[in-house]
Amino acid sequence: MNVRAALESEIDDLARLWFDGWRDAHAEILPPELTRLRTLESFRDRLLVALPAIRVAGAPHSPLGFCIVKDDELYQLFVARAARGSGVAAALIADAEERLAASGVRTAWLACAIGNERAARFYEKRGWRRTGTMINHAETQEGPFLLETWRYEKSLLPD
Ligand SMILES: CC(C)(COP(=O)(O)OP(=O)(O)OC[C@H]1O[C@@H](n2cnc3c(N)ncnc32)[C@H](O)[C@@H]1OP(=O)(O)O)[C@@H](O)C(=O)NCCC(=O)NCCS
Repeated sequence: MNVRAALESEIDDLARLWFDGWRDAHAEILPPELTRLRTLESFRDRLLVALPAIRVAGAPHSPLGFCIVKDDELYQLFVARAARGSGVAAALIADAEERLAASGVRTAWLACAIGNERAARFYEKRGWRRTGTMINHAETQEGPFLLETWRYEKSLLPD
């Protein structure tokens, strides 16, 4: 599965993928106040800011999933419903880990909503270890939304 840079012209496709995937994974386990803030427009705005760091699987304008790394954080990973269980997520996370390692990160981390069991199982399969919980400052247009999450870490040093 080829993983490539995102195109600005597919921001709307990516925003829809993120909006739908966010709801699939989080609407039932996170506070309704946060769900209210997670509008399609809010995802679009955040994607535009993150554009240079977005990596995509799938043909232009038909994204199957995307991943964003920020400093030493695996910041976002979302795969379209139809592409889950297909290896797309594995290709995206392998690409992200390579990019993190290439930028000198030794231990990467990510925040995962408490109760997002499918994502947790996926990260553990990929060698990430749950180290505990943390207070995540989730970005919203009304400022940071503080949320307790699981914290995962992975050493990127060669064995
Ligand atoms: C998280 C995500 C990227 C993982 O990609 P994926 O293609 O679904 O991952 P995989 O299918 O390879 O692995 C998921 C594993 O969880 C298992 N699983 C499925 N539903 C589960 C559940 N409710 N509880 C526990 N495990 C579950 C699957 O069987 C699979 O394990 P297996 O390979 O041992 O059978 C994808 O599901 C997704 O985009 N979800 C919505 C957005 C999201 O949660 N993003 C992460 C935010 S931290």
